[in-house]
Amino acid sequence: MASYLDSVPFSGIIRIRDMMYSVADPYRLDQGDVSFDAPDTVKAGMARAITDNHSHYVQTTGVPRLRELLAAKLRATNRIPIDDVEDVLVTNGGIHGLYILCLSLLDPGDEVLIPDPAWPPAAGNILAARGVPVGYRLHEAAGWQPDLDEVEAAITPKTRVLYLNSPSNPTGGVLTRACLERLAAIAERHDLWVISDEAYEDVVFEGEHVSIASLPGMYERTLPLYTFSKSYAMTGLRLGYVAIRDAAIRDRAKKILFYTASNVASVVQYGGIGALEGPQDCIETFRTELRGRRDLFYRGIKESAGDVFSGEPPAGAFYAFLRIDPAWSDGEAATASASWRMVEYLIEKGRIGCVPGVDFGPNGEGYVRFCFARDRRELTGALQSMKQLFGVRV
Ligand SMILES: Cc1ncc(COP(=O)(O)O)c(C=O)c1O
Repeated sequence: MASYLDSVPFSGIIRIRDMMYSVADPYRLDQGDVSFDAPDTVKAGMARAITDNHSHYVQTTGVPRLRELLAAKLRATNRIPIDDVEDVLVTNGGIHGLYILCLSLLDPGDEVLIPDPAWPPAAGNILAARGVPVGYRLHEAAGWQPDLDEVEAAITPKTRVLYLNSPSNPTGGVLTRACLERLAAIAERHDLWVISDEAYEDVVFEGEHVSIASLPGMYERTLPLYTFSKSYAMTGLRLGYVAIRDAAIRDRAKKILFYTASNVASVVQYGGIGALEGPQDCIETFRTELRGRRDLFYRGIKESAGDVFSGEPPAGAFYAFLRIDPAWSDGEAATASASWRMVEYLIEKGRIGCVPGVDFGPNGEGYVRFCFARDRRELTGALQSMKQLFGVRV
């Protein structure tokens, strides 16, 4: 009996999605999905694949041309010293990549350090692999960086893996090079594997994106994880990839990949080839527009709900992770979680989808996450709705 799965939680994002179905004309700031469409290069790649009848099984690890392009991208853009295309495995989105890595690395009871707050599937995938997630706090006052002494203090003889996510969902924090160098030293000192989730590598507004696997000697112990979802607006197409240098871990990962997917949808992989072979200007276009939406949203929050929410614009990713004024009340008797109470209020009274901070970990209690990658009309509508709810004068 797989009864251990009974204690693996579903993300609260699912509960919110269900709540949103009962709302007419909702503002879907709950979903971490961009409003852009995939570039024409992706569509053309898929259309050609359909015409050319690429509808049969393909290699489990990915179509060779795609893996070649990915290895070149990892070398040139992420500066990861990949000698062999064999290291690259194409996955069914980043979430599948993370599941594969967890199953390939963990024995039951092994501990994995994860940020608190963190993207909920980080803990979920660790638990699904019978591992134990152990949180290390991200500190708002420090631009959502971890305190490295706290990270080190959380290590026990059972700790096997350090999971990093920069830029971060939900905080938008971007780990600095100095912080990554110190985290690398901790991983080396304690002989830890590092899973580096770089789903938002292309959504950095301030500072630089550094792949920890590019630091000297770190690719040996780092399993970097990527997705086409955010960079090329391909969330529904499900295309991600990981790089694994260690042959034994890679062989395990290939087995999980094979037994869970056989191969990632062939047509989608040709879409990925189109994305990588074509011009990359869509990435800059998306980033510039997202920066504009970030600034619009934070200006609007100040005007519409500045008494209720506070927080600095994030350096990366596309989420506003805002602190709720502890004095705020919806007038009802207080239940356990302030962030759930706020989310229910915003959904029921304002038609605004959002996610309670506590869903990302105990340290997220008292916060709410809004996605500002929705189109400007939707963002403006949500801000207008907040203005009515919170009655702040402009
Ligand atoms: C931190 C983080 N990692 C990975 C992913 C994986 O995305 P996907 O499974 O769509 O590739 C997401 C998606 O929201 C994310 O927020």
